[in-house]
Amino acid sequence: MKKILITGGAGYIGSHTAVELVKSGFEPIIIDDLSNSDVKVLDRLEEIIGKRLTFYKGDCSDRNLLEQIAEEHELAGVIHFAAFKAVGESTMQPLKYYQNNLGSLLTILDFMKAKQIKDLVFSSSCTVYGQPDVLPVTEATPRQDAESPYGNTKKICEDILMDFVKSQAGIRVISLRYFNPVGAHPSAKIGELPKGTPANLVPFVTQTAAGIREKLTVFGDDYDTADGSCVRDFIHVMDLADAHVKALAYLGEQQDYFYDVFNVGTGNGNTVLEVIRTFENVNGVKVNFEIGPKRAGDIVKIWADTAKINSILNWHPSYSLEDSLRDSWNWQKTL
Ligand SMILES: NC(=O)c1ccc[n+]([C@@H]2O[C@H](COP(=O)([O-])OP(=O)(O)OC[C@H]3O[C@@H](n4cnc5c(N)ncnc54)[C@H](O)[C@@H]3O)[C@@H](O)[C@H]2O)c1
Repeated sequence: MKKILITGGAGYIGSHTAVELVKSGFEPIIIDDLSNSDVKVLDRLEEIIGKRLTFYKGDCSDRNLLEQIAEEHELAGVIHFAAFKAVGESTMQPLKYYQNNLGSLLTILDFMKAKQIKDLVFSSSCTVYGQPDVLPVTEATPRQDAESPYGNTKKICEDILMDFVKSQAGIRVISLRYFNPVGAHPSAKIGELPKGTPANLVPFVTQTAAGIREKLTVFGDDYDTADGSCVRDFIHVMDLADAHVKALAYLGEQQDYFYDVFNVGTGNGNTVLEVIRTFENVNGVKVNFEIGPKRAGDIVKIWADTAKINSILNWHPSYSLEDSLRDSWNWQKTL
């Protein structure tokens, strides 16, 4: 069984990816400092998987801890999820974001080179495209100046990875550019668990439906879209998790010094208002929302061209928006 170090593996996408890795015969080794997750996730993962996963509580920028992990486990690869991700907070505390998101990647790369760990899958984001001129976006769509320090960390991390691979460090890397992850494991045992006010739409929707928040504000309804609200590409977190397994398998077939990027989305755009209405219809609950002013810096519309990941990784999403919103609600109800 190949052991894969998952940084940030107690978090939203990392925990779902751990489930998919086990299903495909990998052994995940999780390192997480729990800065944005709860240790109970490990119990929930055990219930789903049927065994306890190896877990190290700590910062993945802690080189000594990484050395300890490497002594205890022969690692075949790394999936680097660990990062701070709140766009708004990053504009107020940019150094916190540059420190953690860049610092952790630099430490992980140096560690991988020293230990000759070859394969890395990196969590990038469609934020690197900004507001594209042509839709849908392909991986060849030019990246634009980032709208936030968070977005900039993803862009810089991609550049660091390209330079590192070119330096003949002997590692193979795939950056996955996630669109908008939503949904939860169908068992409702794990899901998105934002600390404080959610920064993403769907947790806000579910918390409003559950009465935890009084009202959801939709930022603008007169954009140039079907119903005037912003358009995003919402991808079920289990499909996203599966993309990591496919990326690892593909890396294993490549020569040394390999770097590539893949969009991970459904290829469809849905408006914010469509998401709210679909959520209400699928779950038979009401969401109290109002239309508010547009937010500065919001991307109006973006969705993925997925031809590359479909053909090269043979990855295809299998969950619908309805599935995602049903799973998100089932998860919310357990909280
Ligand atoms: N969720 C999204 O909308 C989205 C979209 C695009 C890209 N991403 C990226 O995907 C990755 C995972 O996102 P997520 O939604 O699962 O976030 P998350 O906050 O749920 O998970 C990240 C995990 O990393 C941990 N962590 C943070 N810094 C750490 C450090 N230095 N050492 C150890 N652990 C650390 C946190 O405790 C958390 O458990 C991030 O890199 C994020 O930027 C997320």
